[in-house]
Amino acid sequence: MHYKILGRTGLNVSVAGLGCGGHSRLGQTYGNTLAQSADVVRAALDLGINFIDTAAAYGTEKIVGEAVRGRRDKVIISTKTGIASWTDPNAGPFTGAQVLEHLDKSLSRLGTDYVDVYNLHGIVAAQLDYVGAEIVPALLRAREQGKILFLGITEHFGADTDHRMLSAAVPSGVWDVVMVGFNLLNPSARRNVLRLTQAHGVGVQNMFAVRRALSSPEGLKEALDTIEKAGQLDRSKLDATDPLGFLKTDTDGIVDAAYRFCRHEPGIHIVLTGTGKIEHLKENVASINRGALASKTLAKLEELFGQVDSVSGN
Ligand SMILES: NC(=O)c1ccc[n+]([C@@H]2O[C@H](COP(=O)([O-])OP(=O)(O)OC[C@H]3O[C@@H](n4cnc5c(N)ncnc54)[C@H](OP(=O)(O)O)[C@@H]3O)[C@@H](O)[C@H]2O)c1
Repeated sequence: MHYKILGRTGLNVSVAGLGCGGHSRLGQTYGNTLAQSADVVRAALDLGINFIDTAAAYGTEKIVGEAVRGRRDKVIISTKTGIASWTDPNAGPFTGAQVLEHLDKSLSRLGTDYVDVYNLHGIVAAQLDYVGAEIVPALLRAREQGKILFLGITEHFGADTDHRMLSAAVPSGVWDVVMVGFNLLNPSARRNVLRLTQAHGVGVQNMFAVRRALSSPEGLKEALDTIEKAGQLDRSKLDATDPLGFLKTDTDGIVDAAYRFCRHEPGIHIVLTGTGKIEHLKENVASINRGALASKTLAKLEELFGQVDSVSGN
């Protein structure tokens, strides 16, 4: 496993991080038992992963807490709270005091008295003023109490494919760590987020490296249709039956290529991989630790998708 310093946090993090959300939620989505999911977390630690991302909304904090018991001090934990109800669109945003209650509940589920990175989850640009006025002062109090070591914010990539929120949030200086959507179909964060994070010394977690678009033919078709509809893809440049087949010539396949594409992007510290399957985890950790894609392959990807900012790959 390779390690990197996570920007100004100074934390030494594994370049592969375990994502406990996404479509898999450690396999909780498709029937893993709690013990099987905890085994995925333990397997990650055994492979040298020291960075785990979870969230109240994923329902996986307890599993993580159980799996890291006895080795908490060797693990960097990132968790999150939303700033409004996910289920009731008519409810108002949470107050700072409510966010602190959420933090205490996360600490209890994780079985720890501090989190390394506490993130606001899936924030959009229109919420930033409220976040700055109401939530950040509460987070800073929690940091003074030692319950949070570093403040983080994650974007809502599905609705913010061109990163308006992070483009505005990074220069504020508040956020030590951000989570950004970046993949070979939509590398737009290179232009409008990673340039800024590098200038401000902000740590970066990368989500959506693979997701559905790069792990299933149906997901890929959907993503390519969306990009074409946005006028950002010349479909005639792709093979009709195997659009990303060219990636297979010098890699172990699309998933391998997708993780390596992210891993070697300047400014990205941690590539999250989300899975409920230990076999996938092992393959993905190997990919994330492999070398960069060949320059010919990177040039072809740049020609095809370099200007795309219209799709997440969900
Ligand atoms: N706004 C936010 O804050 C936000 C939003 C989304 C995600 N996240 C975080 O980012 C993390 C990463 O996102 P993600 O979980 O969607 O990750 P991802 O690694 O981009 O994609 C994971 C998907 O690919 C599949 N997959 C993984 N390895 C595979 C392999 N070797 N072969 C074939 N399929 C494979 C997984 O299914 P299997 O289970 O079958 O392997 C899963 O469906 C999440 O877990 C979460 O922690 C945060």
